[in-house]
Amino acid sequence: MDNSVVFIRDVMMRDGLQNLKDFIPTDVKIQLFRMLVASGIRHIEFASFVNPKAVPQFADASQVARAVLPLTPMGVEVSALIPNLKGAQLALDSGVRRLAFVMSVSESHNMNNVRRTTAESIGELKRILALKEKHPDMIVDVGMACVFGCPFEGKINPKVVLQFVRQFCELGIRGMAVADTVGFGNPKDIREVCRLCVSEFPDVTFSVHLHNTRGLGSANALAAYESGIRLIDGAVGGLGGCPFAPGARGNTATEDLVYMFEAMGITTGIRIDALLEVARYFQSVKADIHFASSILEAGLPKVLGAVTRSGGEQTWS
Ligand code: COA
Ligand code: ZN
Repeated sequence: MDNSVVFIRDVMMRDGLQNLKDFIPTDVKIQLFRMLVASGIRHIEFASFVNPKAVPQFADASQVARAVLPLTPMGVEVSALIPNLKGAQLALDSGVRRLAFVMSVSESHNMNNVRRTTAESIGELKRILALKEKHPDMIVDVGMACVFGCPFEGKINPKVVLQFVRQFCELGIRGMAVADTVGFGNPKDIREVCRLCVSEFPDVTFSVHLHNTRGLGSANALAAYESGIRLIDGAVGGLGGCPFAPGARGNTATEDLVYMFEAMGITTGIRIDALLEVARYFQSVKADIHFASSILEAGLPKVLGAVTRSGGEQTWS
């Protein structure tokens, strides 16, 4: 296990935009993508292929895909969220190869989010995987929502989570995201679930998706890292939230995660100043946006110089 590197996947363009009422123009989305790539981010989730009546923000997902895929440098992974077979087909037709199939480990949230039982979602996943015959280069990852708690059902037993992981593993899925969709998780729970996942399923690459609903996003990300997870989701500006999970709030800000890991000597390959430019650009086109990002607010630590009797800083508030 490499203890000096972590990958941050930015989901601002997907999770960050899905909760915004106003439609963000396609050219703005494309510019966000360009700027995210320029920051050094190597994993970007750029849209959802979902019913546009459910999430109007992604009515242009195919156009965005066709524009951003040619802008993607070698070594950058782009993915799109899909909830069903139709989403998979639309994404594949638009050239997307990495699909993030979403389902919840809570029956109630799955029903509210994708209008299916979990058994029906697994049936849908099997139908999606059958597309491999026609699209051999397709990669399907699974995102498990509400792993650490559900707004309808409360805590989820880790054994239930592991049963889902086993089923996905048996279907050949090798990338799985463990999501704290509404911010019920704490570092102890994250550690428990991540350690179980990593130790019992060594062939799977796990990632975490941690909403910062109650201020524990970075602590939870560190707990995941210390449990062996090396791919962590964030969203520039701390934007985000599931429209079908009451109480959902923003993701952990990508810049806060980058700051924490880099300060600890763990390389992300991402430039914080470039991330802040992404946020400022977005604010320039959407002035009423409300960010939730400590680094955006406070900036990086500055050293002002020593304070002496004869000079230096003294201010009274
Ligand atoms: N992309 C675009 N359109 C889709 C679609 C997709 N992936 N899946 C279904 N549709 C369209 C159908 O073509 C149909 O269109 P019509 O009304 O013009 O005939 C309509 O949506 C209803 O189709 P149906 O299969 O009955 O879907 P549904 O109403 O049961 O909705 C979902 C199921 C999953 C498509 C819908 O709940 C959804 O998109 N949810 C979004 C979940 C989400 O993004 N959550 C946040 C991220 S976790
Ligand atoms: Zn989310």
